[in-house]
Amino acid sequence: MDTDYFQHEGISFASLMYSPERLQYLEKDFHVRDDDVYIVSYPKSGTTWMMEILSLICKNGDFAWCREVPNFMRIPWLDVSGIGEKLVDECQSPRFLASHLPIQCFPKSLSSSKAKIIYIARSPKDVLVSLYHFANMSYLVKKSNSFDEFMKDFLQGSVPFGSWFDHIKGWMQMKDNKNFLFVTYEDLSQDHRGTIKKICTFLEKELEEQAIDLVVEHSSFSSMKNNSMSNNSLVPDYVIDTKNNNFMRKGIIGDWKNHFTQKQKEYMDKIYQQKMKDLDVKFSWDE
Ligand code: A3P
Repeated sequence: MDTDYFQHEGISFASLMYSPERLQYLEKDFHVRDDDVYIVSYPKSGTTWMMEILSLICKNGDFAWCREVPNFMRIPWLDVSGIGEKLVDECQSPRFLASHLPIQCFPKSLSSSKAKIIYIARSPKDVLVSLYHFANMSYLVKKSNSFDEFMKDFLQGSVPFGSWFDHIKGWMQMKDNKNFLFVTYEDLSQDHRGTIKKICTFLEKELEEQAIDLVVEHSSFSSMKNNSMSNNSLVPDYVIDTKNNNFMRKGIIGDWKNHFTQKQKEYMDKIYQQKMKDLDVKFSWDE
């Protein structure tokens, strides 16, 4: 089966799971509720990880929900059409929803609501590597003939959800809003517990230290990798082929070093500097 994209507001979306009608409805008519919490991310930035952490936080660390219910039913995908729409419609408040939408495509009703957004970002070099491998296991991202070609598509934004640079710059417009939390994959990797506590504070959810221990334990890479409700192995093979591949691939910082040549690194650094020069924010991956 070939992967097909359609264009919406100049951005590519995979036809397999997204539709122009759904995107139009979301942007103009979807009602964001004051008690909604959204995980927003560019693909491959740690969305599934954040879904697990939020699922555990809202159950005070109790693993039962994560052991028994697939992540996409616990925290439905806002953007997905078809079955995804039903899951969102049936979700009870307070809703936890996930989205990869760039800010300009996100429901307009967000601006007049008190909904909370947790934006998770990751070093674009590691996102690129993770997405490259994901393209080889899923029908949501077009495969390339080479890593070099894939890198060019990524840097031009010719991949689903558009340019990584535009996505993060768009959402960073909300950085000073009290209902917006910016978290990085690197923060979570380097200070798993501390970052979980930060998320609890943002959600105004007080957890005992023992409950935090449980959130840390059950959202570890190995726990999620071994849990079919969290490792996406229940997603149909015509979407993600997890029979021959593992969605929970490596789960590390810096895998780009195993993929980039020196020339590719320099090329990407140059583009990064050009595209990010107007954004006055330091990221953990810049160091
Ligand atoms: P890799 O392909 O680099 O391993 P998303 O959920 O946004 O698609 O992101 C997927 C990436 O997050 C994959 O990265 C996956 O392995 C990683 N990931 C998921 N859960 C994780 C965890 N508990 N710890 C570390 N990385 C995790």
